[in-house]
Order: sequence, then structure tokens, then C-alpha cells
Amino acid sequence: MKSKTFKALQISENAEKQYVREIITRQISDLPTGEILVRVHYSALNYKDALSSIGNKGVTRNYPHTPGIDAVGVIEMSESPDFKIGDEVIVTSYDLGMNTSGGLAEYIRVPARWVVPLPMGLSMREAMINGTAGFTAAMCISSLINNGLSPKKGKVLVTGSTGGVGILAVAMLKKLGFDITAVTGKSEAHEFLTKVGASEILSREDLDDKSGRPMLKSVYAGVIDTVGGNILATALKSLTYGGVAAICGLVASPDLPTSVLPFILRGNSLFGIDSAECPMPLRKKIWQKLATDYKPADLEFLATEISLEEVPEKLDLMLRGGALGKYLVRLG
Ligand SMILES: NC(=O)c1ccc[n+]([C@@H]2O[C@H](COP(=O)([O-])OP(=O)(O)OC[C@H]3O[C@@H](n4cnc5c(N)ncnc54)[C@H](OP(=O)(O)O)[C@@H]3O)[C@@H](O)[C@H]2O)c1
Repeated sequence: MKSKTFKALQISENAEKQYVREIITRQISDLPTGEILVRVHYSALNYKDALSSIGNKGVTRNYPHTPGIDAVGVIEMSESPDFKIGDEVIVTSYDLGMNTSGGLAEYIRVPARWVVPLPMGLSMREAMINGTAGFTAAMCISSLINNGLSPKKGKVLVTGSTGGVGILAVAMLKKLGFDITAVTGKSEAHEFLTKVGASEILSREDLDDKSGRPMLKSVYAGVIDTVGGNILATALKSLTYGGVAAICGLVASPDLPTSVLPFILRGNSLFGIDSAECPMPLRKKIWQKLATDYKPADLEFLATEISLEEVPEKLDLMLRGGALGKYLVRLG
């Protein structure tokens, strides 16, 4: 019997070693093995997808490949006792979109252990406005709160604030009552950031200390950093006594040019966040928070809906550091 076909973004390497993006028709029988077949309704764009689309071997080893580390949809086939046909589910992280055919397609097939039931309080659309970006922002916030951060402790700084992780962090911190300083490279995005919840906006240059001083004025009780490099080093030098920082990204640099001094003289703490291999019990708790306490009043305001055909152009924009909020990819 002929296998059902579906639409997918495919990245392939041509004879000139360039990575070519096209929308193709694929067969369900070509998907990897797995207990759960999901008809994808929405995906979302992440920086990792942009890296996969240009042949970054740290993300994707083999091409042709369909990227997309995020997907939400409805189960069409289940070989797992934990899920049934018709269940609405979220699949993010693990190997999805890296070396497993990803969510920028109308179907995915994945192991049951990667699948999270859509929590009450989140629509499929809202789940993907969050996606890995929102999930990571929530992991950062949860880690800071679990380590003593509260609104009365002082300001929280968010870097890369108009990107996916950054804007969701700003929106969730606002919901939780924090005073937020946002760092951005986009002067045109100040109004957007203010509407989402930032009370102060700094340029990247404002947070790029070149004085060589080991510590700066104490300003921030918390930091959520998505960029790394000297912006992160400057943020760490500006923590208050007992201040806490959560780091998850490296769009500026994987380096961290700092010293032990802010940590041993101000009792600061630095927490690394990894969403990809987050264990399932914590994963479910974080999705629960995304559906309740952390859920911003207006998630739609953070997202731009695009079609699969518009994905390549937005991936290029992300690679240029130009992403503004979340790109929600409609597949239903
Ligand atoms: N650890 C994890 O589990 C995890 C999960 C998700 C994402 N991440 C990482 O987090 C980072 C952000 O991901 P994302 O999906 O939010 O990316 P994104 O949507 O592309 O946003 C990144 C933002 O960073 C800022 N930026 C870009 N280039 C910069 C530069 N050279 N210097 C300083 N700032 C720069 C820009 O915001 P402004 O213009 O506002 O400054 C940009 O919009 C990536 O490194 C990604 O790999 C990690």
C-alpha cells in the first residue's frame, strides 16, 4: 500500500557544499521509527533550527534533514499504552530536529518517552508560542526563584531580550511581578519591550564593559542570559550581594571572560540551563508552570505566525541576530 505523503522543509547539501532549503513532499514511511506518530499543527523557530539549516555539524550531522526542535499536534498512531489516538501532545528537545526528522513538517514520529501531554490551560498554539524558548525561559526563572530570587530582592536583567527565549523571559517575569531591565541590540524594539513588561531598556553597548575592573556597581539581583561573552561577564560583575544568574545561550559568544571575584566577594551564583535533556518529571512541572503561574497575560502579542514557506527567510533573520519575538509556524 502506498504510504501517506506530507509537506516538510528539507535541508540538503549540494555538490558545491552549500546548504539548500526547499519545501518537499515526503512519505510517512520515510520517517524514523518510534511509537508515536503526530500530525503537527504548529512548530516554532529556534536559534538551533537556524544552525541546523546552515549545516552546523554540532547540531545536525547528516543531510538531507528536516529541522524543527519544536512541535505540537495530535497523535495519529500510538504503540504506547501511555498515549492514544487523538491526544494533543507537545514534543520538544531530545533529538527532535537535530538528527531526528523535526517539527518543520506536517508529521513527526518519535519515541513515547519524548512526548508531553498538552497541559490544561494551554492551547496547542500557546504551547508553541512558548516552545523550547519559553520552556527554557521558564527553566531559568524557576532556577533563580528556587535559589532565592524574588521581586523584592531587586531588578532582573534579561539579555538578548527581543529573541525567543529573551522575550518570553521578560513576559513571564512581568507576570510574576519582577522589575525587568532588558538588553537589546534593536533600538526600534523599545516600545515592544516596554509593552511586554521591561521597565528599563539598555543597548548591548551599555552592557559591554571594557574597563578591566573585576566588579562593577551592584545593580541586578538576577540575570537571565541568552548571549554569553562579554555581555554576560558585565552582567555578572553587576550582580548585587547574593545575586543569581541563569545562563542558557551563546549567540554572542561561547566564551565567559570573567574572574572568580563576583562569586567569592558577593556570594553570587551561576546556574547553567539545559532544556534538551531536562528529565521528564521536571519537564512536566515546567510545562505546568507555563500553563498556570508563569503564563503571560497576552502570549499572542509575542508571536508572529508564519507558513512553512516563510521559514527560510526567518531563519536567515535569526542568524543575523534580527529575530523579534517568536515565530510560530502554522502546519495544520
Ligand atoms: N540551553 C538551552 O537549553 C537553550 C534552549 C533554547 C535556546 N538556547 C540558546 O539561547 C540562545 C537564544 O536562543 P533564541 O532561540 O532565543 O534565539 P533568537 O530568537 O535568535 O534570539 C537571540 C537574540 O539574541 C540577541 N543577539 C543576537 N546576536 C547577538 C550578538 N552578537 N550579541 C548580543 N546579542 C545578540 C538578539 O536580541 P536583541 O537584539 O534584543 O539583543 C537576538 O534576537 C541561543 O544561543 C540558543 O542556542 C539554549
